[in-house]
Amino acid sequence: MNQTIPIASDHGGFEMKQFLIGKLEAVGYTVRDYGTHSADSVDYPDMIHPLATAISRNEYPLGIILCGSGNGAQMTANHHTHVRAALCWNVELAKLARQHNDANILTLPGRFIPCDLAWEIVQAFLSASFEGGRHTRRVEKIEQF
Ligand code: RB5
Repeated sequence: MNQTIPIASDHGGFEMKQFLIGKLEAVGYTVRDYGTHSADSVDYPDMIHPLATAISRNEYPLGIILCGSGNGAQMTANHHTHVRAALCWNVELAKLARQHNDANILTLPGRFIPCDLAWEIVQAFLSASFEGGRHTRRVEKIEQF
C-alpha cells in the first residue's frame, strides 16, 4: 500500500491513536503522526490544526483525528477550508461519511468506543468512495453561504 495517513489526537484519543497506528502500519500504510506523543493532558487544537491544515492544502486525501468525545477535534478541523470532518462511532456512519459527504477526515471518540471497533471504522472509511451524483451538489453547497 502506498498511501500516507495523517493522524492526530489529544490525550483523550492517545491510546486509540497508538493502537490504530500499529494496525495501519501492519497492513502497509505509512502513518504521519501529528501527536500527541504521550497520555499527558494537552489542548486538542494544538494537534488537530496542523493536520487539518495539511488536509486543506491537499497534502493528503484522507486523515484521522481523535479526542475523548470526538467533538472538540471535529469542531476544530471543520474550521478549515475544504475540510469535512465526520464524527463516526460505527461502520455504517463511516461508509456514509465517505459515500454521501465526501468526508476527508474521520473523527473518532477515543473514550467511547473500543479500539477493535475503531479499527473496523477506519477500514470502512478508508475503503469507501464518494458516490458523486446528487451528493456533489450538496457537498459543494457546504461552503456556499
Ligand atoms: C479532554 O479531557 C477532552 O475534553 C477532549 O478529549 C475532548 O473530548 C473534547 O472535545
